[in-house]
Amino acid sequence: MRFQDKVVFITGGAKGLGKATAEAFLAEGASVAVCNRNAEAISKFDEEFKGKKVLAFAADITNYEEMEKIAGKVWDTWGKVDVLINNAGIVNPLVPSEKIKKENFDMAIDVNLKGTFYVSQVFGKRMLEQKSGRIINIISQVALYGQKGFLPYAVSKAGLMVMTRSLASEWSGNGVTVVGISPGFVAGGMNEGLIRKQAFVDFLSKKAPINRMARVDEITGLVLFLASPEAQYINGETIVIDGGMTGYTAEPLLDFIMAGKGK
Ligand SMILES: NC(=O)c1ccc[n+]([C@@H]2O[C@H](COP(=O)([O-])OP(=O)(O)OC[C@H]3O[C@@H](n4cnc5c(N)ncnc54)[C@H](O)[C@@H]3O)[C@@H](O)[C@H]2O)c1
Repeated sequence: MRFQDKVVFITGGAKGLGKATAEAFLAEGASVAVCNRNAEAISKFDEEFKGKKVLAFAADITNYEEMEKIAGKVWDTWGKVDVLINNAGIVNPLVPSEKIKKENFDMAIDVNLKGTFYVSQVFGKRMLEQKSGRIINIISQVALYGQKGFLPYAVSKAGLMVMTRSLASEWSGNGVTVVGISPGFVAGGMNEGLIRKQAFVDFLSKKAPINRMARVDEITGLVLFLASPEAQYINGETIVIDGGMTGYTAEPLLDFIMAGKGK
């Protein structure tokens, strides 16, 4: 029970990676609060974990006042929050950049960047008062170099990497440390629809030299490690967990030459 007596708040925590993270913390003894703008997912989560140390709120992270009320309720119930996981996020419809709709660009910035900042500030203020806290931002590998079709998502997530460093440099002297994690393609969460088709699994697996997508438990394992006392000196950093995808060229020049294709 690594997180007995710890309180964890997870945005977007009733489905996908957020829900898996909530379950992993509950299994380690933590009290877990989640919010999600999907009210149906919240009532299912509430039902599934009835009787456990759980709070669940139907709320949108872009609503600052709502997030303040929720933080108040969590502090009223458990007296503190030790770990905030900024997991809520949306991906844009994949289209070439000249075809991105204004509303889709705005939505990515509003949720992934602005909403994450709102929650960080609301919870961060209270963490600064309690003089302790760990904030973990779930970013994305595409934040590092972008990727064709992902522009709104990539730029919003790239902003989160800078936010991670900025908040760490401002707050960690007063006990609140901040880190990010940047997964590559995960076999779950927002890819659940895609990976029902083997063609997508095969395609996405080849994007990393390790030749497979990440398992959900590999992501939650890293989140729990970063929340643990052993990892507290990791601060301001964003850890990439992508099976070696960053910098990997799907067909390296060496393979091209060795296959005799240049002759
Ligand atoms: N699955 C992947 O391959 C992958 C890879 C890299 C990064 N990520 C990141 O991991 C995080 C979790 O993604 P996932 O794969 O579980 O996707 P998901 O779509 O299953 O989960 C995201 C959750 O966030 C919630 N959400 C969205 N906007 C919200 C808002 N404004 N307020 C409150 N809740 C909101 C959604 O309802 C959803 O339940 C995201 O930030 C995503 O960008 C995922």
